[in-house]
Amino acid sequence: MAIILGIESSCDDTSASICIDGNIASNIVATQKIHAKFGGVIPELASRAHQQNIIPTVDEAIKVAKIHKNDIDAVAFTRGPGLLGSLLVGNSFAKGFALAQNIPLIEVNHMQAHILAHFIDNPKPSFPFLCLTVSGGHTQIVLVKDHFEMKLLGNTIDDAAGEAFDKAAKMLNLPYPGGPLIDQYAQKGNTNKFAFPEPQIAGLDFSFSGLKTAILYFLQKKTKENPHFIEENLNDLCASIQSKIVKILLNKLVLAAHQTGISEIAIAGGVSANSSLRRDLEFLGIKEKWNIFIPKFEYCTDNAAMIAIAGFQKYIRHDFCDHSVSPDPRMAVGLT
Ligand code: KG4
Ligand code: ZN
Repeated sequence: MAIILGIESSCDDTSASICIDGNIASNIVATQKIHAKFGGVIPELASRAHQQNIIPTVDEAIKVAKIHKNDIDAVAFTRGPGLLGSLLVGNSFAKGFALAQNIPLIEVNHMQAHILAHFIDNPKPSFPFLCLTVSGGHTQIVLVKDHFEMKLLGNTIDDAAGEAFDKAAKMLNLPYPGGPLIDQYAQKGNTNKFAFPEPQIAGLDFSFSGLKTAILYFLQKKTKENPHFIEENLNDLCASIQSKIVKILLNKLVLAAHQTGISEIAIAGGVSANSSLRRDLEFLGIKEKWNIFIPKFEYCTDNAAMIAIAGFQKYIRHDFCDHSVSPDPRMAVGLT
């Protein structure tokens, strides 16, 4: 029997999870509310909140899993990518815990972990598969050859998809993180009401900065004519923006599937919680004859269950690290 404690602290969520023989027994997430009023994550505040949250979060994960801390066989933590000050808290805690308990330490790549969240529940994707990983910091199309053998096929050249959602939301006077709110308002809106431009980027890379600028200029012009334009059109604005972002993402995913000939397709990361992306991918899956894999909501946004499952996969491979390991804020998902 292998019991793994997973620790996630790369951005603004402190999370701890217990994985018992590949099954998630607990997954506790302490979300930091403090950033909402600033319209984005303040790294210094995030790091301090992680310090306050980490011990109660780990205690809760152990309690919910109904185990004792002495039962834990290894501790896995997010090494990167992420905010240095945030990563340091999880990294230091994991090292201290491993040392005190005299158990192995396992480093986990946050972007790989988002993808490996698909190995928590059944059905699991089979190798090789493609994963569109869309979060607040990343937008990637990854060729997943094996659990830890990944190749980056496409990447954003500017903003990430989640960032595009959050920045658009900010322009619509919605609080941070605005992605889930755009999703919510879009349910009642008309996707064809407002037309925004589609970036013309060759290959499998993404760009969202042109869309962001187009939304900004459009809103400036419209609110000059009518100061209540945003409130009066919020649902349609959210629906039109969301459908454009989703279209950009799925068009590239289709291209990647055609180029590689792979029809085993997954999505991951915070933006994979988006209802339009999930629904449109289902339709596309039928049209393109893909096997699609959509994570449960709790495994889309940052969570330690994905760190614990990645840790479990490394544990069975005896892939441990030593205590000289330091956080890697710009850690790559795999080979480019
Ligand atoms: O994976 P994640 O929790 O953190 C990072 O690693 O960045 O992703 C957070 C991002 C935020 O940009 C948030 O607005 C976005 O995921 N997000 C959504 C939805 N839920 C979370 N974006 C659109 N629709 C959603 N339902
Ligand atoms: Zn993430």
